[in-house]
Amino acid sequence: MRAPRVFIETFGCQMNEYDTEVVRSILKARGYGFTDSADSADVVLLNTCAIRENAHNKVYGHLGLLKPLKEERGLVIGVLGCMAQNLKKDLLAGDALIDVLVGPDSYRALPDLLEQAVAGRKGLAVDLSEYETYADIVPDRIEGVTAWIAVMRGCDNFCTFCVVPYTRGRERSRNLIGVVREAEALAASGCKQVTLLGQNVNSYQDGVHDFADLLGAVADVRGIERVRFTSPHPKDFPNKLLEAVADHPKICKHIHLPLQAGSDRILELMNRTYTRAEYLALVDRIRRRCPDIVLTTDIIAGFCSETEEEFAETYDLVQKVEYHSAYIFKYSERKNIIAARKFADDVPDAVKAERVARLVELQRGISLKKNRALIGKTVEVLVEGDGKHPNQWKARTDGNIVTVFPKTGDGIKPGSLLPVRITDATVTTLYAVSI
Ligand code: 5AD
Ligand code: SF4
Repeated sequence: MRAPRVFIETFGCQMNEYDTEVVRSILKARGYGFTDSADSADVVLLNTCAIRENAHNKVYGHLGLLKPLKEERGLVIGVLGCMAQNLKKDLLAGDALIDVLVGPDSYRALPDLLEQAVAGRKGLAVDLSEYETYADIVPDRIEGVTAWIAVMRGCDNFCTFCVVPYTRGRERSRNLIGVVREAEALAASGCKQVTLLGQNVNSYQDGVHDFADLLGAVADVRGIERVRFTSPHPKDFPNKLLEAVADHPKICKHIHLPLQAGSDRILELMNRTYTRAEYLALVDRIRRRCPDIVLTTDIIAGFCSETEEEFAETYDLVQKVEYHSAYIFKYSERKNIIAARKFADDVPDAVKAERVARLVELQRGISLKKNRALIGKTVEVLVEGDGKHPNQWKARTDGNIVTVFPKTGDGIKPGSLLPVRITDATVTTLYAVSI
């Protein structure tokens, strides 16, 4: 009998992309094969996100598309990840299509559950763990010049808008040495850039080492040219970490620093544990120590009871900080989050949408200005692969800005690190020529 073939579709954040690689590794060890479409699969797994309503809707949409395949040939369907964890039995009971439901800490149970499902028994594994880090599992990565390493999982911050503490459980970190070994193995296979991942990556703590130690140790690995990390929380940004970023040539000068809101009252309701002034002081400290830093952020507009004046404080802060780019979201109430229990989701949807649109407009202007300021400059980029046109390379600057430039047939390949001269810029992309 041929090995059953699995198609995995991934939604949501980079941690989910990483988890899909872990799942592939677990399944491969049990003899499963893979395919790149549902049409040729025996098992379809959706690795889901629960962070906003539209993430859920996407998954329901995809499940609907799988219905005919299930009816035709008894496809096994599994829902993995944060939505599985958050909705648990409700999801299994509510949707006859789903055979298997597995949360982010239970992927080791997946092969057994799939075997049961083939025999006609539905099953779920949604226990959260205080220890599971999958440290012993080598993710089944698509080989390339960039890779993710999850260094910690879970979150203990309990921001009131966020479902992550419920879907991914308590914080836990891998040992520094295990992470360094993984980076060494990646370097040996040709990888040039690693991104250290965690829901709260700078709370990393293995009992001996903190996040600055880890970042430095990974950056010291021979062959790794660039190290990035995401996402940090502004509350854990000691000078030691800033010094590591500023001083180590291989640690990218890019910090994603989620703001969420610019008003003290809203920050307090969100349980962000910093004030507007403290956040601005941190930005100032970062920029003084590291003037070339590229700052990006996440913002939520229309959180419970946010007034027009309070929104204006967010708008003002974005104008003041001038982020290089920003992810801007409408507040989306989720099952289980603290805000759903404590506050009314009372900002009308149209107002949320309008606030998001105003911020997006503001940010686009700033992004364009910042990118255009780079025209004429020479910057170092890491080539990741082909651009949209096969005669172009797609690369990134140290600050993570996408840069495309024409191929000139001069020995440049994915993984090359080279200087290019910026010739043009849009809101999201730099255009360059190799020099
Ligand atoms: N509604 C809207 N955006 C949210 N985020 C997290 N939870 C919610 C929510 N309930 C955003 C935050 C976070 C990013 C990953 O997603 O800005 O930083
Ligand atoms: Fe990632 Fe959070 Fe979405 Fe889970 S809920 S996939 S941790 S963004």
